[in-house]
Amino acid sequence: MSAPKILITEPVPQKVIDYLGNMGEVLVAEKGIYNSELQLKKDIRDFDALLCMLSTPVTNAVLEEAKNLKVIANFAVGYNNIDVKAANELGIKVANTPDVLTEACGDFAMALLMATTRHFYDAEKYLRKGEFKGWEPLGFLGMELRGKNLGIVGMGRIGKAFATRAKAFGMNIFYHNRSSISGTDEKELEATFIDTIEELAQRSDVLSLNCPLTPETYHLVDNHILELMPSNSILIDISRGPVVDEAALAEALHKGMIGGAGLDVFEEEPNVHPRLLTAPNCTMLPHIASATYETREAIGMLAANAIIQVLRGDKDEQIPNLVFA
Ligand code: GLV
Repeated sequence: MSAPKILITEPVPQKVIDYLGNMGEVLVAEKGIYNSELQLKKDIRDFDALLCMLSTPVTNAVLEEAKNLKVIANFAVGYNNIDVKAANELGIKVANTPDVLTEACGDFAMALLMATTRHFYDAEKYLRKGEFKGWEPLGFLGMELRGKNLGIVGMGRIGKAFATRAKAFGMNIFYHNRSSISGTDEKELEATFIDTIEELAQRSDVLSLNCPLTPETYHLVDNHILELMPSNSILIDISRGPVVDEAALAEALHKGMIGGAGLDVFEEEPNVHPRLLTAPNCTMLPHIASATYETREAIGMLAANAIIQVLRGDKDEQIPNLVFA
């Protein structure tokens, strides 16, 4: 039997490539070529396994061409880029990478919040432009976190990791989730469950999106929610861009309906809505929440493990990170 063929759609840490190399013939694609469905449709037929990125569209049309494919492992915890239902129907296993990026994302959400409330980007730009002429008592004033309300939408692993850090900064934790979290977690975080996203928006000085992108969460934050948010409040999104109506957010920032936003994700990545690029108090980063050496390697190894397990015929129950539609 010939060695299985494994396609990795972007360069990933070498350890991951070497690990998969023990299992089969690995092709590592050049950066960006599989960000289009078209190219993937052309090439997928040759491969038994796919290690893809959140930017790789693994659509039904791609899967129809995937005659040899047995497993897709996403180099991410979120897997809205994959048509999981279509894959499952074709008997193709799908895996993601939960847990390993939780702490990196918790740290990052806190950093993004502070960068936004304390105007890091504008202040740094001001300094680099040579505009810093002396200490100013009224320069770059921002929101203090102690005693403020943090509203978390999606209290999963990453939501809890952010809440843990925010609590250490003296914030009060509120959350909205499909269901309330365990009593122990609520107690530990001193977190209060809020029934509706509307009420959470009204009560939050900081509203943080930590939910997956699903048909239910698409444009969850729209003009209606933005109108309910207090005028000095901050929106943080490290989940997925389409959870926010980006055009509505850009208008809300321009009109001063909310105080600011910290965004790591965008509706049409890598494009950013042009009105957002000129919006005030908006920190924007290129989807890097999980970007630490340790975490990106751990993500790759977890995804690679699922590929190896499927290819060697392990049972579903033995593969902890499989996902199903
Ligand atoms: C990153 O956005 C991920 O889903 O892992």
